[in-house]
Amino acid sequence: MSSKEVIDVLLEEDRTFSPPEEFAKDANANDPKIYEEGEDLEAFWAERAEENIDWFEKWDEVLDWSNPPYAEWFINGKLNASYNCLDRHLKNGRKNKAALTWEGELGETVTYTYQTLYNEVCKFANVLKGLGVEKGDRVAVYLPMIPEAAVVMLACARIGAPHTVVFAGFSPSALAERMNDAEASVVVTCDGYYRRGNVIDHKTKTDKGLEEVEKLDDVIVVQRAENDVNMEEGRDHWWHELMADADRDCEPEVMDAEDMLFLMYTSGTTGKPKGVVHTTGGYLTYATTTSKYIFDLKEDDTYWCTADVGWITGHSYIVYGILANGASMVMYEGAPNYPTKNRFWEIIEKYQVNILYTAPTAIRLFMKWGAEYPESHDLSSLRLLGSVGEPINPRAWMWYHEHIGGGECPIVDTWWQTETGGIIVSPLPGITELKPGSATNAFPSLEVDVLDEDGNPADSGYLAIKRPWPGMLRTLYNNPERFENTYWSKWDNTTYFAGDGAKKDEDGYIWVLGRVDDVMNVSGHRLSTVDIESALVDHESVAESAAVGVKHDVKGHVPFAYVILDDKAEPSEELKQELRNHVSDIVSPIAKPADLVFAPDLPKTRSGKIMRRLLKAIANGEDMGNTSTLANPEIAEELQAKVAKEEVAATK
Ligand code: PRX
Repeated sequence: MSSKEVIDVLLEEDRTFSPPEEFAKDANANDPKIYEEGEDLEAFWAERAEENIDWFEKWDEVLDWSNPPYAEWFINGKLNASYNCLDRHLKNGRKNKAALTWEGELGETVTYTYQTLYNEVCKFANVLKGLGVEKGDRVAVYLPMIPEAAVVMLACARIGAPHTVVFAGFSPSALAERMNDAEASVVVTCDGYYRRGNVIDHKTKTDKGLEEVEKLDDVIVVQRAENDVNMEEGRDHWWHELMADADRDCEPEVMDAEDMLFLMYTSGTTGKPKGVVHTTGGYLTYATTTSKYIFDLKEDDTYWCTADVGWITGHSYIVYGILANGASMVMYEGAPNYPTKNRFWEIIEKYQVNILYTAPTAIRLFMKWGAEYPESHDLSSLRLLGSVGEPINPRAWMWYHEHIGGGECPIVDTWWQTETGGIIVSPLPGITELKPGSATNAFPSLEVDVLDEDGNPADSGYLAIKRPWPGMLRTLYNNPERFENTYWSKWDNTTYFAGDGAKKDEDGYIWVLGRVDDVMNVSGHRLSTVDIESALVDHESVAESAAVGVKHDVKGHVPFAYVILDDKAEPSEELKQELRNHVSDIVSPIAKPADLVFAPDLPKTRSGKIMRRLLKAIANGEDMGNTSTLANPEIAEELQAKVAKEEVAATK
């Protein structure tokens, strides 16, 4: 599909939805003047930082943007993120309020109040200190959706040791690669966890990764599934044993606003993941303020974000932004269809969830399962719905609105990235008129535009952010050149290049179309084509490969690969499966190609660059467009015929 056709599909739905009167009346943001206030960038953020964050020492200057693209926010301000998420709520009436209610896949429930969460965080902070972790040391976290993940993050924040959370679904080598890059010598993991009723042996997987870690001191193991695991004497420690002896008092470290809060690795267009650096003052102010206005958090609300803590959404909108607001949230360990396809709706009913934040891929899956599941539950507690991770097609938007929101809940379609720290383009639910499929407008004070190749405003082009914001990444860990080149070199060094294509309509609404680079979005998870290609060429039978994203009804995209075999290897169905499994083992099951074809060669430009655009069109069964610039145009046609003949599964 050409981008023109994509836009046409997006625009098929032309109904608009105004904020319901009742909702707007009490909304945290209900006066459009907030957009005018945002025009004064520094005054706007100074006010929010004072209102939403407790500082040990106030800043001298709101923003220093004199050395772009390096920004500094709240200069000389001193604070602690865990203090803001915990301690201050012990004194403001929220001591006994539920902070985090966790539901395991087996149905068990644990509730932490602000007081008990504080106790656990302080104890674990002391455990880390006891192991010699100091301010500035990086701590790796390789945990699934269990409350200890939030405890570790906040404990790290408490002592000023930046955490780097690696998604538990990632492979052992992904863990090792991130730990080595972050120079983290301590990791928190677990014995196992539940997925569709099965115990996933996470410790064995962790150990496999740790074999490749260059400098390793301690491994802390949370006991979740009680599966048999190997504990290495002197290196591995049980969480519960360390916690049993830990002191409950731990003063929060006084952190500078620009001290690193955490590192989060994300896929880029080369094989090596990028270590996105977020700092304390700006990030926390941004995550907290956007949570308050976009999710309209109220004292009595129960909020549920279905993302994993291993992704940025879990950082900003499960842990930091939500707890800093003193809200109550639900965290669920397992799969949406275990033991039945009713699981999400049962959770909403059980905890009377008011705000649900999930991904289009999940919504499309629920659509496929059928409306009878949500309809057999009372979802009337819901008052606001959110979407994140990829463009939400209008049909899914309408289904979400009607079948989950009962036609009454505003939907906030939130566009942002690991790098942006928090939501950038989104409706304010008490103000914005919604158009299904559009993330609508930039958050107050942000200046987002659609630019053409030369940096001129255009109706259709690249999404760009033209002003700094407090949650922006500060750099890429140990790699400032890559930071400058990836985000700040397409136009000028004050305009952020997001890597997404977008359209702006006649009302100035933003319609995000998806990535323009070699990054694909599988079920809302960001993967690089290079990750998949490197895994394929790692196999002895593979000489060369190219991976592309193929559109998928539920997952958004699925990976598809073209493989050129080594001369000694013979193509076969078995080898195909072996290669697919190889990618799954090396990268993650998410990255497993839905299908692959053995190719005699790949279409290349005269300078030898693989034409992925063409391979993407072929895999998607689309028109190949102009092939005249190819060094080998015949191969494109050959591949096209092959894909059609083999009825490649992914294309259906
Ligand atoms: O392509 C955009 C897509 O997800 C990418 C960022 O991925 P990641 O850093 O993993 O963060 C995901 C969670 C914030 C973006 O470049 N994306 C995210 N949200 C949306 C979206 N695309 C369209 N609409 C969205 N609401």
